[in-house]
Amino acid sequence: MGRLRHLIIITILLVLSTVGLRFLFEYIFALPAAASAEAGPIDILFNGHYWMIAFLFSLIMVLMLYSAFVFRREDGDDSDGPHVHGNTKLEIGWTIVPLFVVLGFGFWGAVTLNEITSPKSGEMTVNVVGKQWIWSFSYPEQDDIGSGELVLPVNRTTVLKMNAEDVIHSFWVPEFRVKQDLVPGRETTLRITPTEVGSYRLRCAEICGLNHTQMEADVRVLSAEEFQAWVEEKSAAPAFAEMTPEERGAYWASAEGFGCVACHSVDGSPGVGPSWQGLFMREEQMTDGSTIVADEAYLTSSIYDPNAHIVAGFNPNIMPQNYLEQFTARQQEIQSTEAIDIDIAADIIAYIKTLQ
Ligand code: CUA
Repeated sequence: MGRLRHLIIITILLVLSTVGLRFLFEYIFALPAAASAEAGPIDILFNGHYWMIAFLFSLIMVLMLYSAFVFRREDGDDSDGPHVHGNTKLEIGWTIVPLFVVLGFGFWGAVTLNEITSPKSGEMTVNVVGKQWIWSFSYPEQDDIGSGELVLPVNRTTVLKMNAEDVIHSFWVPEFRVKQDLVPGRETTLRITPTEVGSYRLRCAEICGLNHTQMEADVRVLSAEEFQAWVEEKSAAPAFAEMTPEERGAYWASAEGFGCVACHSVDGSPGVGPSWQGLFMREEQMTDGSTIVADEAYLTSSIYDPNAHIVAGFNPNIMPQNYLEQFTARQQEIQSTEAIDIDIAADIIAYIKTLQ
C-alpha cells in the first residue's frame, strides 16, 4: 500500500472517531438544561473543548491502533525494525501547533469570562451569606427583605454579593453554569441572568465540614410581575412586635434568622446537633457521663456557651460561640427600629417548647 492510501484511510478513521466520540460525550457528560444568559457562551466553550478532546484522543488512538495492526510483524520476520532518530519538522510541528491551540483556548476562555462577569445595565443586587451549613439571602434594593430561598426575576442580571461567615463555601446552580467561592473576610461577586422561569437547587460545591452535602437552598426564577408580588408579600411580613415569642423563635431558627435548623432538626431526625423535638425538659446524657435536664437555664447557657456541656454523641466546637454578640447586635437593631425589647434566646426557647 502506498503512503497516500495509508494517509487517506487514517484521515477517514480519524474523522469518524472524532465525530463519534464527540456525540458519545453528549451522553457521558450531558449538562443539565441551560437556564441563564451566562450559560450560552460557557456551553459554546464546552462544545469547543469537547471537539478538541475528541480529536486529540482520536489522533493518538487511531495512529497507534492502525500502526499496531497494519504494520505488525509478519510471520517469520525476525529482522530488527528500522532505527529512527527523530524528525525535526515533525517535532517543531507538534510543539508549535499545540502551543497555538492552547493559547487560542486560553484567549477564548478569557474573553468568555470577561463577557459573563462584566457589569450589565439594570442590575439588581442580592446579598448572599453562606455559613455551616445554610444559605441566606437579603435584598438591599427591596426594603432589605431576607429570605431562606433565592428568588430571582427572569431576564434581569442579578449581582450576588457573597460572604462566608466561617469557612470557604461555593455557590453553584448547575443550570446557571457559573460557580463562585465564598471566602471568609472577602466579598466575592457572581452575575446571573436567569432566562427560564422555574425551580432550581443551589448546592454548596466546596467541602465545608460535616453537613456539606446538605448545604442546599431552593432557587426560584419568577416573571417580573411575580417577583414584585413576592417582594410585596415579603415586605408585608408582620413587625417583630406583632409576633408571638414562639413565632419569632421559629423565625430566628430559620435560614432568614440565625439558621439553627441547619444543625438542629425540629422533627426528631438526626443532625449535627441534638434535635429540638421533645428537647425541653428532656434528660440529656453528657459526654462526661452526667445528666442534665434541658430546662430554660440549660438551654440559654447552651446557646451562649455551647462548649460548656456537650451532649453524648455530639462534638464540641461545631456550634458558633458568638451568639451572645450576634443576638445583642440584632436586638439593638430591633430596639432602634421598632422600639421594643426582644430576647432572641428566650424566643428560641419558647419555640423549642412548642416542639413536644
Ligand atoms: Cu458549604 Cu460545602
